[in-house]
Amino acid sequence: MGAEKNLDIPQEKVYGTKYYFTHYHKSYEAGMRFDIAKSGSGLVYEIRHIVNVANRLKRSGVEVIWENIGDPVQKGEKVPEWMRKVLTDLLRKDCTYGYSPTKGADATREFLAEKVNRRGKAQITPEDIIFFNGLGDAIARAYSAIRLDVRIIMPEPTYSTHLLAEVHHASFPPNTYRMNPYCDWSPDINELERKVKSHKAIVGILVINPDNPTGFVYPEEALVRIVDIARRYDLFLIFDETYHNIVFNGKKTVPLSDIIGEVPGIAMKGISKEFPWPGSRCGWMEIYNADKDETFARYIDAILTQKMSEVCSTTLPQMAIPRIMTHPQYQPYLQERLRHYEKLSNIAYGILKDLPYVMVNRTCGAFYMTVVFNEAVLNSRQRLTIPQDDVRAYIEELAAEPIEFDKRFVYYLLGATGICVIPLTSFFTDLPGFRMTLLERDEAKFEHVVRTIGEKIVAYVESAR
Ligand SMILES: Cc1ncc(COP(=O)(O)O)c(C=O)c1O
Repeated sequence: MGAEKNLDIPQEKVYGTKYYFTHYHKSYEAGMRFDIAKSGSGLVYEIRHIVNVANRLKRSGVEVIWENIGDPVQKGEKVPEWMRKVLTDLLRKDCTYGYSPTKGADATREFLAEKVNRRGKAQITPEDIIFFNGLGDAIARAYSAIRLDVRIIMPEPTYSTHLLAEVHHASFPPNTYRMNPYCDWSPDINELERKVKSHKAIVGILVINPDNPTGFVYPEEALVRIVDIARRYDLFLIFDETYHNIVFNGKKTVPLSDIIGEVPGIAMKGISKEFPWPGSRCGWMEIYNADKDETFARYIDAILTQKMSEVCSTTLPQMAIPRIMTHPQYQPYLQERLRHYEKLSNIAYGILKDLPYVMVNRTCGAFYMTVVFNEAVLNSRQRLTIPQDDVRAYIEELAAEPIEFDKRFVYYLLGATGICVIPLTSFFTDLPGFRMTLLERDEAKFEHVVRTIGEKIVAYVESAR
């Protein structure tokens, strides 16, 4: 290894840290005996990365409008009093402070299994449910328990956590099927089948429904076609249903459990977006048909074995789930939020749909809107006016790097207006654009933000055509 050094010291002293620091200080300063960090893929989680840039601008006095992350609470959603009361009552119980069973609290898993079974389609038991520390954790475990040489095909663009976990694990570029912005963001299912057929290493299909970042809500026919592909090619399914109950503008969708039949599959569900309680770090997998496929059962076992070594997941939110979901105010609260997202979706669509240089679809699920730049309208000479010298200098320095054109726009938008969105190419697509959220609680402020974005799109593109 390149960074390896010949440390001419007795072994026992290498590990006697104190001795090592004091007596071999010189050697230590020169670096460690090996290069210890696992090499990364060079891919970054832009949703968080952009925060560093925005914070740097904050220090220069820019007022940042956070449109980067899907956290309703950060965007001003008030936790309702009844929900606070459920949690404070739970905090009076000692058991909420302890470990929970590895798979999750028994009563909660029973409650969730019953919710699935009541639909009369797939039937599961509490043993088919495994809790994690947020779906981010479930996603990491799902991909790391798969053999290195087999792959999961995923949508493009895709929610970064899935792609990063899959690619880091396999150390090869991803396999994707495209979501088509000119067709309402619907997936190219023919491409999906072509790739599954020709690439024998693909063992599973990821679907995110409703989708992040596109907001696409899968109609039942599309889901049935995907399940059928999995059945015909002996694959398993991962359906990320984080946003399952966040659907509006008259759209409807169905859960995987309704259509899966005998195909092995995992539905991923959570409370980060729905309660919303992203800080709870609580999400779960529902496993379908592990009893019908030995290979799949072994894979689920590998996930569970990993989980056991960590003991369990966060206890308090698990215990809160049945109490919150059955609370008489839960549905009215969720419905009120859906009406708000619907309103914001239509405000944004109304402002951006006729704008030159970009195309948008009306969002009908999750709470994002993704704007795509028309082909070839962006280049590396465009800019926005930034009056403040140090801010302008910083943005120009960032924009001088060899970066994607949409990232360049996002930096200029941030420097000129404080509006912090995510470049679309960071969701692993060649389509240039950006994702914003529909989470702002103040409607007038939201409208102003979208109008500003619209004006800046035009000004930026026309600054150097
Ligand atoms: C599609 C999707 N899956 C999973 C997650 C992760 O959620 P959690 O907060 O449960 O880790 C997110 C968060 O934005 C998401 O958008």
